[in-house]
Amino acid sequence: MKIAVIGTGYVGLVTGTCLAETGNDVICVDIDTQKVEKMKNGVVPIYEPGLDVLFHRNIAQGRLSFTTDLKEAIDAAQIVFMALPTPPGGDGAADLSYILGAAKDIAKIVSEYKVIVNKSTVPVGTADKVKAVFKEHTEVEIDVVSNPEFLREGVAVDDFMKPDRVVVGTQSEKAQKLMAELYAPYVRQGNPIFFMDERSSELTKYAANSFLATKITFMNEIANLCELVGADVDAVRKGIGSDDRIGKRFLFPGIGYGGSCFPKDVQALAKAAESYTYDFQILKAVMDVNEKQKVVMVEKLRQYYKNDLSGKHFALWGLAFKPETDDIREAPALYIIDELIKAGATVTAFDPEAMPNVKAILGDKINYAADQYEALENADALLIATEWSVFRNPNFDKMEEPLKHKVIFDGRNLFDLQKMIDLGFYYNSIGRKLIS
Ligand SMILES: NC(=O)c1ccc[n+]([C@@H]2O[C@H](COP(=O)([O-])OP(=O)(O)OC[C@H]3O[C@@H](n4cnc5c(N)ncnc54)[C@H](O)[C@@H]3O)[C@@H](O)[C@H]2O)c1
Repeated sequence: MKIAVIGTGYVGLVTGTCLAETGNDVICVDIDTQKVEKMKNGVVPIYEPGLDVLFHRNIAQGRLSFTTDLKEAIDAAQIVFMALPTPPGGDGAADLSYILGAAKDIAKIVSEYKVIVNKSTVPVGTADKVKAVFKEHTEVEIDVVSNPEFLREGVAVDDFMKPDRVVVGTQSEKAQKLMAELYAPYVRQGNPIFFMDERSSELTKYAANSFLATKITFMNEIANLCELVGADVDAVRKGIGSDDRIGKRFLFPGIGYGGSCFPKDVQALAKAAESYTYDFQILKAVMDVNEKQKVVMVEKLRQYYKNDLSGKHFALWGLAFKPETDDIREAPALYIIDELIKAGATVTAFDPEAMPNVKAILGDKINYAADQYEALENADALLIATEWSVFRNPNFDKMEEPLKHKVIFDGRNLFDLQKMIDLGFYYNSIGRKLIS
């Protein structure tokens, strides 16, 4: 099939590449000329494990190409995916200007039937708004489909190639048939495609992300309580996770959820509910708790250093909002850095992939180390903000010498408590016994 993908970010580029992988001809469009130039030169502009192999193979076999020319892409395509940003607007509601702007641009170009697929995360009613834009600017028949994306950065290629489910919101039989055909190679193992109306599809995505953010937040609160009552969150997590109704996943406490999706999607759903005069109380609580959790480590540092962080120097392992990505949008590490700098402390950070992105926004406000051990040089303490695998089993002998003090504040519970006792570290993690 002939496909156009508009927007080549984490979702668009993975979507385009994975659709090319099953034999479709895909043209990806972006307004970022530098990015398009890079991709034309065979450079993957984001870090996403496994993407490069598929990217290069499909370019080489002529199924994947890139352009800044929207018309070129639209003319060639039967199905047009929009994978555009939907950032929070000033009031927290999703900003639809990218989507509606692109819809208008497409409407002015389109000359024959197309299926316009919205892959971005958008509020209920967006498909109707997109349809209205087309109606205003063209007489050509088009179908607008909601097809929210559930991929996780870090395992995005696997998630796209073998999705738990595909959700397609449309009431058009013609569009449904084309979407079923397009997705057939990805659901061969019996994983379902759920066809539903557009509004239910749009809400499914927000409901999924908000539920997951709530689950994490609930565990963060349980962890905070564990610290006060002397319980161990690892034990509690295992104790509740073995119940099928609860499930084992998404029960690991930490320093708050971040990333490009959960914060904005929870906020957007709460805001959307408000516009229907529904007070979505649980989501408000989730947002409040998460705000505090993002800086829980700084609070712990303040307690430890008796409210005076000035002149302290910290090593920080991890900048990305989660491992296996270079995405730093709403990363808890950035909030921690901000608080530390405000308090007069200095930071040397190391992250396997995210340092260039942090450098682009923070510049020399912090120092960057060549590896995780170099980051420890002269540090009063090590702070851990992202659970990269490479941090899980470090060489503790190599850590002792550069660190000024054997002090670790771990926001991701990477280390075994007994090991920390045996090695003689002060070890402050989340929801577990303090080793001092
Ligand atoms: N990142 C994720 O893990 C994820 C997962 C599921 C859903 N989503 C949703 O998917 C959407 C896209 O997210 P993302 O993380 O891929 O965003 P992104 O910011 O990484 O990428 C967006 C891309 O769109 C391009 N763009 C902007 N305006 C354009 C235009 N008019 N024409 C062509 N290109 C344009 C930008 O240059 C950028 O390359 C959002 O709604 C997001 O909520 C994201």
